[in-house]
Order: sequence, then structure tokens, then C-alpha cells
Amino acid sequence: MEKYVINGGNKLYGSVDVQTAKNSVLPLLAATVLTDEKVKILSIPDITDVKNMIKILSRLGCRTVFDGCNLIIDSSCADCYEIPSELAHELRSSLFLLGSVISRFHMAKIAYPGGCDIGLRPVDLHLTGLKRLGVDITEENGYIICKCDKLRGNEIMLDCPSVGATENIMLAAVKAEGTTVIKNAAREPEIEDLQKLLNCMGAKVRGAGSGTVVIEGVNELNGCEFLPIPDRIEAGTFLIAAAMCGGEVELTRVCAENLSSLLHKLRENGCKIHVNNDKIVLENHRRLTSVKSVETQPYPGFPTDLQAQITTLCCICRGQSIITENLFETRFKYVPELRKMGADITVINRNAFVRGVERFKGATVVAHDLRGGAALVTAALAADGMSSVLDISHIDRGYGAFEYKIRKLGGDIVRVSV
Ligand code: UD1
Repeated sequence: MEKYVINGGNKLYGSVDVQTAKNSVLPLLAATVLTDEKVKILSIPDITDVKNMIKILSRLGCRTVFDGCNLIIDSSCADCYEIPSELAHELRSSLFLLGSVISRFHMAKIAYPGGCDIGLRPVDLHLTGLKRLGVDITEENGYIICKCDKLRGNEIMLDCPSVGATENIMLAAVKAEGTTVIKNAAREPEIEDLQKLLNCMGAKVRGAGSGTVVIEGVNELNGCEFLPIPDRIEAGTFLIAAAMCGGEVELTRVCAENLSSLLHKLRENGCKIHVNNDKIVLENHRRLTSVKSVETQPYPGFPTDLQAQITTLCCICRGQSIITENLFETRFKYVPELRKMGADITVINRNAFVRGVERFKGATVVAHDLRGGAALVTAALAADGMSSVLDISHIDRGYGAFEYKIRKLGGDIVRVSV
């Protein structure tokens, strides 16, 4: 077990490169099972979710070669359709493999997946979508078992725009017979990235980024080389940290358009933000004013993956805020931890009512999930005195070289074994 020890109060100055998007890379890796040719994914982030996904691909029989930055996946010798329970439990995105594994083997067996413990994360939309493509699904002893003779395109209307279900159905449909139309599809930039990769592989997908994705089935897919989009959530976390600590931080290899809902809120807070091509500079030298309300929504609304971080910022702003979490019901687990640091927050159902205090004070806190954990680190960086953030394996799931990047900006943070 490891923890971060953070001596708060330093302003942040300097520049950091944004990593490749975790939420893009995971479904892209799942897509590589669809071809016998080699696929090279560039600039792989050094995070445990991706390492676990690579382990799962290896268990399926895929060969992977990692040169420290780029990953080549050769699925020509994939020979296993079962996703082992110990890995599936660690990584919810193993679920995306259902679509591509069933497409490849016409069989798939996967233990119910894990991932962040942020409330009920049902899989009904994934399964209903696959059934519409002709997959027969049974569930036994904690396993989802899928079988089909042939995948056939169909029209699928999602009850809500689930990111994972949209991606899973796209992966199952690219080599199905005929055309699949996904209505009420998620519009996240990561869906567009998946479409781009699939089309580089010879698929015929269009409409990603809108509410309707159309997939015309093809017989074969080829290999390719692909650079995924930058991680908007990592970028957002650093921008919020800079807003909280004060200073001037530049992010490079970032897509500002994918962050517009956050940039809008930070400007409303009083931060100065300059965007120049793939760079964002945030400057702040004073205590900020609270935004009145933030409500998480599917893209292009405010991302649930930045809810904990923006709430943490509101805690030390002047004034009051209401933050509403519309996507995942238990995404306020970090709140009792922030209270230990002096925050004044009350959670009632899906709403967090925040009354700004002058500063956080250092404390020992526990990361309970990925984004909540990162938010606690930002609070500790802005706090008076020393803090320890325990259980940082949650943070390692999604933030590569987190403490190196923070130290580069002048933050006082070390990783310690406990
Ligand atoms: C993805 C992201 C995650 C992000 C989330 C919402 C990845 C690897 N993870 O997760 O970081 O927080 O999008 O932006 O990309 N739902 C159902 N039934 C289903 C599936 C989902 O009811 O079968 C509901 C969920 O409970 C939730 C909402 O749909 O309320 C959105 O979830 P979804 O978009 O599916 O999230 P994930 O794809 O799991």
C-alpha cells in the first residue's frame, strides 16, 4: 500500500504535457481484437487501468509489445473468449471486450466487471444492445455468457446515452451483417475517437459525436497506427489544481474544445484562461468566487469525472455553490474526507451544498475512488500544512506520473510505502 504525503501551500508554476485519454485508450484496445493484423496505439498512458486491459488482452491470446511509450497489439493468435474474473473485477472496461470478443469468436464469457465503486453501474443497456444484434445472453454464477451464430445489424435505441454501451455496440456491429443504427448514442469525444480508429481499420462508421451512430458492417478489418486524443479529465484536474493553489500553469497537448464546460465554469469563478491551439494557460493569483451551481450531464455537459474536483474548488471559494450529480448516485464518497480538511459541505441525495471556507487545513484522508482521490490531492496541495492521502492505488488507475507532474509544477508531494 502506498500513500501521498503532501505539504500544501505552494503555488503552481510551469508546464505539463497531458497524457493520452484513459477513456479512449480502453475501448481502442478492445477494438484491436477485431483484426488479425497488428495495431499500434501511440502514447499509451502509464496507468493501471490500461495495464490491466493489456493483461486481459494477453490472457485472450493477443501478443503485445510495449516500447515504453507505444503499444503494438497482434491479435492474430487470440484463442480465448473468456475474460478471467480476477481481471474483470479490477476493471469495468473489460466489459467493452464483450462486443469485440463476441464479434471474433461468436462466444464470450465475462465475469461481472468492476471499476470504481460509484454506485450501481448497471450493464442492462450493453446487454440489450447486443441482444438486438442477435446475441443470446445468459447469466450464471456471476458470469455473463454470450453466444451467437451470426451478428446482424439492427436499430438500437438507448434508454440513456451510455458511453460504454455505445462503444460496446459499435465494437460488436462493425463486422455484423448489414447496418446498425444506435439512437440516443453518447456524444463523448472518446466515441469519436473510437469511430476514427475503427475507420482507420477499414470499418464504415459515421455519426459519432452526434446522437445517432451508423455502422455499416464490413467483412474484414486491417491493422493501423493511431494516436488517441488527450485526456480531458486529467487536463481538467490540473486546471482545477492550479485554480485552487494559484499560480500560472500551462497544459500542452490538450483539446480545449473537449473541456469547454469546465473552462466556462473556471472563467465564471474568476480564473484567467488563454487557449492557443493545443495549449491552455490558467492564471490565478487570488481567492476565487464560487460558481452558483454545477450539474453533471452527459457530454457536452459538465463531466461527472470532474465533479469531485470542481466541488473541492468550490470549498475554498468565496460564497456558496450547489453541485448536482446526475449520473452516479454515490459519487460523493470523498465529501467526509474533505470535511476532515475543514470543508463545509452537506450532501442531500444528489446535491452537495458547499459554503466556501478561507482555506483547507492538512489532514489524513482516504481515497475511495479514482476522481475523488485526485480531488483530495488537489485539496491537500492547496491546504495549510501536511496531509496524507491513503489508498492511492485508486488514483494510479487513471493518472500517470501524477506526483512527477505535480512536482514539476512546484507542488510538494511524495509517494511513501505504508
Ligand atoms: C464512462 C467512463 C466514466 C464516466 C462515465 C460517464 C470509461 C472507461 N468510463 O463510464 O469515466 O464517468 O462514462 O461519463 O469510458 N447506465 C445504465 N445501464 C447501462 C449502462 C449505463 O443505466 O447498461 C447508466 C449508468 O448507471 C449511469 C449512466 O448510464 O447513470 C452513464 O453511464 P455510462 O455512460 O455507461 O458510464 P460508463 O461507460 O460506465
